[in-house]
Amino acid sequence: MEVVIVDHPEQVMADIVENAVRGGAKTIGLATGSSPLATYDELIRRHRDEGLSFAGVNAVLLDEYVGLVPTHPESYARFIRDKFTDHIDIGDVHSPDGMAPDSRIAADAYDALIAEVGPVDVQILGIGSNGHIGFNEPSSSLTSRTRIKTLTEKTRQDNARFFDSFDEVPMHVITQGLGTICDAKHLILVATGSGKAAAVAAAVEGPLSASCPASVLQLHRHATMVVDPAAAADLK
Ligand code: F6R
Repeated sequence: MEVVIVDHPEQVMADIVENAVRGGAKTIGLATGSSPLATYDELIRRHRDEGLSFAGVNAVLLDEYVGLVPTHPESYARFIRDKFTDHIDIGDVHSPDGMAPDSRIAADAYDALIAEVGPVDVQILGIGSNGHIGFNEPSSSLTSRTRIKTLTEKTRQDNARFFDSFDEVPMHVITQGLGTICDAKHLILVATGSGKAAAVAAAVEGPLSASCPASVLQLHRHATMVVDPAAAADLK
């Protein structure tokens, strides 16, 4: 795994995505949450000001809350449209169906869809303060496929800032599994701020372990972690 420590991670992240897209990438993987927002802003700027085109590129999201309609302001399908994909010329944007009558069937269908539109050329990731990627919480199988997961109390607390109250944060999600994520050709994880320092150190320097799902990047043939100095503070 390569670790890049820079003051402006979004520039490095955007460079990697731009190079992939200009090099013919057909599918990019998108994370939601606050970590990639600066990267999305920078890619929108490059699209608007520098002619970076996403025509012919499709996107797949990592995860979706169970029980939120795609128009709900905090559904990830809506979030990614509002923050990124509605502002560029990208093709189809796929996400798990959080409203499906049977989430297990929806999860399997999403895994099959990724196999069809993939492989993902470059997958953007954030990291949870407990080391999760996607919504693969600690103890997730390192080879897991897309499935339903129950969020930990810690993750629901972390995400409560996006909702009116903690109780409104859904308990369940459909998330790409760690095995699904690792099918992507290049994983790029962005982390900023001291709140991510412990998780970054565990992922980079800790043992490969389901206790820190992001440590699965250690196994991947092409993984890049792009962090600011605060998020790198616990690295030796
Ligand atoms: C969201 C996702 C999550 C977030 C993580 C960090 O699609 O996959 O793993 O990346 O929870 O969230 P932020 O960036 O809000 O700290």
